[in-house]
Formats: sequence, C-alpha cells, structure tokens
Amino acid sequence: MLSRLRDEIGRSGGWISFARYMELVLYEPGIGYYAAGARKFGAAGDFVTAPELGALFGRTLARQLRELPYPVLEFGAGSGALAEALLARAELDYTILETSADLRARQQARLGARVRWLEQLPGRIRGVVIANEVADALPVHAVAWRDAGILERGVAWSEGRLAWAERPATGELLEESQSIDVPVPYESEVGLIGRAWMRALAERLEEGVIFVIDYGFPRAEYYHPQRAAGTLMCHYRHRAHADPFAHPGEQDFTAHVDFSGLAEAAVETGLQVLGYATQAQFLVNCGITEVLAEANVESALHYAPLAAEAQKLLSPAEMGELFKVLAVGKGVSTPLLGFARGDRAASL
Ligand SMILES: C[S@@+](CC[C@H](N)C(=O)[O-])C[C@H]1O[C@@H](n2cnc3c(N)ncnc32)[C@H](O)[C@@H]1O
Repeated sequence: MLSRLRDEIGRSGGWISFARYMELVLYEPGIGYYAAGARKFGAAGDFVTAPELGALFGRTLARQLRELPYPVLEFGAGSGALAEALLARAELDYTILETSADLRARQQARLGARVRWLEQLPGRIRGVVIANEVADALPVHAVAWRDAGILERGVAWSEGRLAWAERPATGELLEESQSIDVPVPYESEVGLIGRAWMRALAERLEEGVIFVIDYGFPRAEYYHPQRAAGTLMCHYRHRAHADPFAHPGEQDFTAHVDFSGLAEAAVETGLQVLGYATQAQFLVNCGITEVLAEANVESALHYAPLAAEAQKLLSPAEMGELFKVLAVGKGVSTPLLGFARGDRAASL
C-alpha cells in the first residue's frame, strides 16, 4: 500500500488531495481497507455498527419500512446484518448496492437468493434507499482556514513517510469553504463527495424515500468554534485515534456527516426533507419499546443482551444523540412514523 501511495503522489507532482488519499486507502481494489479481506465488522473487527450489535435496530426500522409500499435499496450493506434483520421482519423486495467485491461476496454467502446485488447506481429509483454508516465512509476534502487564507490539506511523501501538505484551495472547495463561518485558525472537512453522492441519488429518485443514518451534525454544530481540529477519526481494532497515516489500508477512517450539506444537495435536486431526528428519537417513534416488549422478559438470558443493545442504540452517551436519521424524498404523502415526534429538520 505504501509504495502504491508513494507512486501515486510522485505521479501527481508530489501531492494528492486528502479525498484521493481516503479513496485509495479505503477503496482501491485489492488493497483498500473495504476492498480487501480483513474482518472489519463486529467484536473481532475494528468497529461495531448498529446492525452489528444485534437484530433490534433492524427489527425497529422494519416497522417504518412496512408502512412504505416500496422496494428497498440498501447502500454499503457491510456484513449483511441489517438486511438479514429486516428481511426476517418484513416482506421486502431487497437490493444491495455494494462497491466492495469482498463484502459483496460475504453478503451473498449470508443472504443468498433473498437479495439482488448491484455494483452501480441504477438509472431510476422508485423505492426506499437505506444508507447506514455509509455517508461517513465517503471521502472528504480537508481544509485549513488560516490567516494566510483558505488552504486545502493534502498528502505528500516526505522523509520516507506520508505527511500533511497544504496548498491554496481552489474551485468548488474554495467557494464552499468561503461560505463556512469559522474562527481562524481552524481545520475541518468538507463533504463535496457526499453531496455529489446525494445529488446522484436524488436525480434518480422518481418516487420514494432516502434514509441516511449516521453520526454527524447540522452545519452550525459541525463547524462549531470548539471543533477546531475537525472530525476525522480512525479505527484500528476498536481503538479510535486521529492519525490517518498510521496503518494505511488496514484501518478504517471516517469523518462526521454534515447533514445540512446532504439536505441542501437533496433539496437543490428536487427532493423534500421528510424528517431529521436523533437515532434515539427515531427508534422510539418507530416503536423500539414495543419490539423490546415482544421479547421474553422472564428469561434473563434472552432479555439481558436485548436490553444492553437498546441501551447502546438509545443512550445519549452512546449512539442515541450523536447518530442522526435524515429522510429526504419525493412523492411520499404519508408522514413518516420515525419523525412523528421530535423532528429537528428546522435545525438543518
Ligand atoms: C462503515 S461500513 C457500514 C456497513 C453497514 N451499513 C453497517 O451498518 O454495518 C461502510 C460500507 O459502505 C460501503 N460503501 C462505501 N462507499 C460506497 C458507495 N459509494 N456506494 C455503496 N457502498 C459504499 C463500504 O464498502 C461498506 O460496506
């Protein structure tokens, strides 16, 4: 991986953007983190997502999906855990779009004929799109606001190792960064690729809903004066740290999601914001307590892990507050169950 990076940096005049670096170390076929065969998910991997905790998240989300008369298109399905939990609870026409060949093979082994797979966006979408912890894995551009102006932070090869290197920001990145109001000096990320991803989805959505579930904030909180070092986070064997140049290709790294940016991209492309809430509020609205009540409370062996899972999904100290659910869509007239109370779309 290091020699591949050094070659690419050399061929590109000694500098690549951080977004390109992220694309290579996460997705380059054969060597990128998501493209190669490491364990990644769950207790034995590098991080645990909501569907990996158990089936409670999927069972609760299934209550929302059962109210929508559409086929499902799941983006980046990881180990296939969410699809499995949803399909156990709802009759769904289910397609997965997965860019990693390795993960696609694992999903196929787990889910078999109940699901279809795509490698590219279909031309038209009529359906419910679900992206759980996908938006945070899309490459971001890194930006520094300094007295000298707005600089793009990229990656160079210096003294035998990868190192940050800055140059003046240009084009769309400069324009976007100028519109963000931050105290100087300040470093953060700009999700141009996330917005382009949302626009591409929105252009194709003829009717239906896109649910983006992820950790992140509305813009005012994202670029808060106290978050002056940005939101980049690396995960290596359940240890979170901030060095994107450690273990390239072997560690996951992500940025928080700017939900205002995604909502704007959707609205500019003709969609409506249908709801925005914390994960805890969304799951409570969908009836997570009813799902828990179906469990056998008499058996501690059965109930204790479910209660622990609910605590992780709902607690403000765990995933409950930091994780949000954004729904955007077109042609959907029934209000969505998950936003019946506590919709914070006005904060976007
Ligand atoms: C952090 S994992 C989340 C997996 C799963 N959704 C979960 O919650 O456990 C990110 C997933 O997104 C996939 N992915 C990344 N970029 C993608 C894209 N542009 N289109 C579809 N999938 C993508 C990755 O291969 C991986 O499966």
